[in-house]
Amino acid sequence: MVKVTIIGATGQVGSYAAHAISQISHVKEVCLFGRDGNQQYLEGLSRDLMDSFAARGTNTRISWSCDEKDLRGSEIIILTSGAARNGEQSRLDLAVSNAKVVATYAEKISRNASDTLLFVISNPVDIMTAVALKYSNLPPHRVFGLGTHLDSMRLKSCIAEFFNVHVSEVHTRIIGEHGDSMVPLWSATTIGGIQINNLPAFSRLPKEEIMERVKTSGQLIIRSKGSTVYGPGDAIATIVKTIVEDEHRILTISTFIRKEVHDIGSVCIGVPARITRGGVFPVPIRLSDEELEAFRVSTEQIRDITRHVFETLKETFHSTEDNYF
Ligand code: 2OP
Repeated sequence: MVKVTIIGATGQVGSYAAHAISQISHVKEVCLFGRDGNQQYLEGLSRDLMDSFAARGTNTRISWSCDEKDLRGSEIIILTSGAARNGEQSRLDLAVSNAKVVATYAEKISRNASDTLLFVISNPVDIMTAVALKYSNLPPHRVFGLGTHLDSMRLKSCIAEFFNVHVSEVHTRIIGEHGDSMVPLWSATTIGGIQINNLPAFSRLPKEEIMERVKTSGQLIIRSKGSTVYGPGDAIATIVKTIVEDEHRILTISTFIRKEVHDIGSVCIGVPARITRGGVFPVPIRLSDEELEAFRVSTEQIRDITRHVFETLKETFHSTEDNYF
């Protein structure tokens, strides 16, 4: 009986994620969680989803709450709360204001769901993952963020289009910040199991153009239709399925690293991690010199902004966990 709770379910990503997650066979309850005052919306959303489940023949239970006590029993808590950026903002512009929202929920989770896996979606996700780790008092393997998994899927899609192959034939990863300093791992990219740089057509691949498209994809979608929904929503559901079915897949998510990547540590950032029912575990990897330099730039930027955000939270929030950053 796996209960998945979505905090911020009244948002576009949260409500679609609820729909996507409900189709995972091991998930028996999806709890829609929102801040006080959203009761009517949550009641309406839960009924709308129940109608969908009936039409689909899904017997997943839907519940909703604004009471932190109902966080109890959640195997996974997905945290999507906080402002979404508009078409002119960067994800980092949201850092200080969203950190207060994330820290508030992290404390609620610390009080009510100390056994949960905390899955952070709120942006800037790498910094919000660090805030959630610091104020939830959960161990690092049970606090993680969507990170660059969605960016990796965007790159996968662009490569499949260029080579005219099924998207599942492409395996690639982007590590680092879920943002402008993200780092594509061309050295870890394959098509049909063949190292991409062993394909003659690779020399014609417009790598810089493709990476610009990946980096700006979120903003283009936001400018066009207000927010990204289906991409993050199904990316979230993929990771939830990997957890509840204990698949031990290696996906690229934001998690706390100590020394797994060339001894770089004390930061939450997008890295390959083994995803299990017990939590997520960064996989030690080696990078090319070029990739390592770009990853260092990305981690230094995120670590600096994380520390600045922690300073702004000090007056309001008190953390017992201080030995990570
Ligand atoms: C995106 O890139 C929501 O940041 C997320 O779509």
